[in-house]
Amino acid sequence: MIRSKLETLIPAGLGRLATLAARFRNQVKAHFSEINQRRLFWEKVLQGEVAELVFAKREGAAADLLEKQLLESDATQSAGEVYLVGGGPGDPELLTFRALRLMQQADVVLHDRLVSEDVLNLTRRDAERIYVGKERDNHTVPQEDINQLLVRLAKSGRRVLRLKGGDPFIFGRGGEEIATLAEEGISFQVVPGITAASGCSSYAGIPLTHRDYSQSCLFVTGNLRDGSVDLNWSGMVQPQQTIVFYMGLQGLPIICEQLICHGMSPDMPAALVQQGTTAQQQVVIGTIASLPDEVKRHQVKAPTLVIVGEVVNLHESLAWFNTDSVAVHG
Ligand SMILES: C[S@@+](CC[C@H](N)C(=O)[O-])C[C@H]1O[C@@H](n2cnc3c(N)ncnc32)[C@H](O)[C@@H]1O
Repeated sequence: MIRSKLETLIPAGLGRLATLAARFRNQVKAHFSEINQRRLFWEKVLQGEVAELVFAKREGAAADLLEKQLLESDATQSAGEVYLVGGGPGDPELLTFRALRLMQQADVVLHDRLVSEDVLNLTRRDAERIYVGKERDNHTVPQEDINQLLVRLAKSGRRVLRLKGGDPFIFGRGGEEIATLAEEGISFQVVPGITAASGCSSYAGIPLTHRDYSQSCLFVTGNLRDGSVDLNWSGMVQPQQTIVFYMGLQGLPIICEQLICHGMSPDMPAALVQQGTTAQQQVVIGTIASLPDEVKRHQVKAPTLVIVGEVVNLHESLAWFNTDSVAVHG
């Protein structure tokens, strides 16, 4: 099975392409002093028009084109680029094709705590990895420094992967990072990822909307500044609406208390999903009155997501993933 899979991946003319590359190896080495420049050049050759000509058995034309590309390429300047990529909530199979391709291409990776080890392991093996932290209240590298680091690396000609958990544009500060790049005229692309709300709700069997129970869904940050509560609570307390709280673990008692104060029934179903989509996923089910105590009893580990709404009741019949992990009904 492995052999047949490999055969479908390896083009028949690969040996001939390698022979052509060997012929030009010393010339390319002499042209580019930096290994990164050589790598970029060879990737263009091996994945581009030259390779296609070889596979079409036109080695003469391929050699001419390779030589032309080499003479035309500027050995002193290679433009760097930044890929702002959403790594999803944890399960590596939830990556997009585009994310995976760019992860295999980048030569330096900036990642933070939310990116799962399994996802990180899919980046190029020889890429430099830079951990930029971001635990609650402990930003290993301040946001402004991350922005500047991206600029510096790209300007030095590197292809930089900024790998973020979930989706970069949902509570990910992705906008700030690319704003700095845009100001500096550095090219970048953004790849969406599966956000925690989507991943956790699917893997917990809790649809975020449902014709009978919920016609709208809010994504809200539960990261309460200095313990103070400045969210639009009355906007949240609406019939037939699901609310998803990101970063809501610390503030959970205040969140539940405020929802009740603003008129939500204390019996409103609520779920906390821990490490959603991973083998460690756990789901704690309760109501907004009981969930804070349930969570305290179960030593929950971050990251966690809180889902509030009638749809939570569907978990009982729709849970399909890791169902023998703890699903506590509080
Ligand atoms: C700074 S936000 C980043 C959100 C991310 N950009 C996204 O789209 O999912 C971090 C929060 O996302 C949520 N989160 C991320 N991954 C999660 C997971 N696998 N399980 C549960 N919650 C998760 C938690 O609420 C965590 O506190």
